[in-house]
Amino acid sequence: MPLQLTDFPKKVKIVEVGARDGLQNESHILDISAKIALINRLAQTGLHYIEAGAFVSPKKIPQMADSAQVLAGIERIKNVHYMALVPNLMGFEAASAAKADEIAIFAAASETFSKRNINCSIEESFERFKPVIQAAKQAKIPVRGYLSCVLGCPYEGEISVQKVAILSKKLWDMGCYEISLGDTIGVGVASQTYQLIQEVRNLVPIEKIAVHFHDTYGQALANIIVAMQLGVTVIDSSVAGLGGCPYAEGASGNVATEDVVYALNKMGIQTGVDLNLLSLTGQWISKVCKRPHLSKVGQVIASKIAANKPLVPNF
Ligand code: HMG
Ligand code: MG
Repeated sequence: MPLQLTDFPKKVKIVEVGARDGLQNESHILDISAKIALINRLAQTGLHYIEAGAFVSPKKIPQMADSAQVLAGIERIKNVHYMALVPNLMGFEAASAAKADEIAIFAAASETFSKRNINCSIEESFERFKPVIQAAKQAKIPVRGYLSCVLGCPYEGEISVQKVAILSKKLWDMGCYEISLGDTIGVGVASQTYQLIQEVRNLVPIEKIAVHFHDTYGQALANIIVAMQLGVTVIDSSVAGLGGCPYAEGASGNVATEDVVYALNKMGIQTGVDLNLLSLTGQWISKVCKRPHLSKVGQVIASKIAANKPLVPNF
């Protein structure tokens, strides 16, 4: 049956990655108090899944070197899941000691990207993840699985969607509770997203698939709409469109959370996020990072609030 424009979920889970994916690529390294303030402000907006840091090599990603102090300093709100990225057992132990509510392991669908990002082949990375997942299981810490370069690689170009589907299933079979498909360099378009989700959902339950679009070419929201029409209900995004990937030169930040929430609100899809508070947070963090505010929605709403102009709900 052809897709209908009404084939959308009623509710969507947003995973806010700005404080990790966003800040890891900012040239301006934030101090700990600013990171803590960002996470606390994000939690106040109604976001329930917040990536708060990464326990990776500080030589590779100096921006995340203080993740333990950040997690120790945040105000924990009930029902908010504070998540952290870990590449190996050493990272898991640090994340667990810092009381991360969830961890995320990260693999890639491109050999070259895998080597550059985590210094091992795809196969080796899965071997590294096995003990991490086992330890997390014992500690009852849920594990999310990322797969990068699903719609293209900065070094290898095109990536086969069949390969992505097989690797996604591998992450699922290993025990990841959700698989986040990363268009790391933001090159994919709607037709490719359609093929990608069709392929992956043959092997992984659709409700366990998340989409993670960087917005380099401005295609992220269109891709999200297609993914939702195919049944995806988990969307990764970054406040104010912060970020990029240090191992994907030229890639811009994730789709802005403000843009996603605005679209979903108007489409009648619940997110539970207060768009006004989120827009003010986006404006604030952009100033702190000394960068332009990249969410169009966020800019409009924050300037309306500043001008004391009446805000029609959700506009
Ligand atoms: P390696 O050099 O192969 O590892 O790096 P190693 O085991 O030989 O260790 C080298 C050094 O790193 C040692 O220190 C270790 O102690 C240290 P030294 O003796 O040289 O002083 N080390 C660690 N330190 C802290 N925490 C750890 C840790 N592990 C080792 N967990 C490794 C391998 C994976 C560690 C490294 O390559 C690394 O940390 N890479 C991280 C890359 C990264 O964070 N990339 C960005 C996140 S991924 C992303 O953004 C994509 C995503 O958003 C989805 C998408 O958009 O597609 C998720
Ligand atoms: Mg990313």
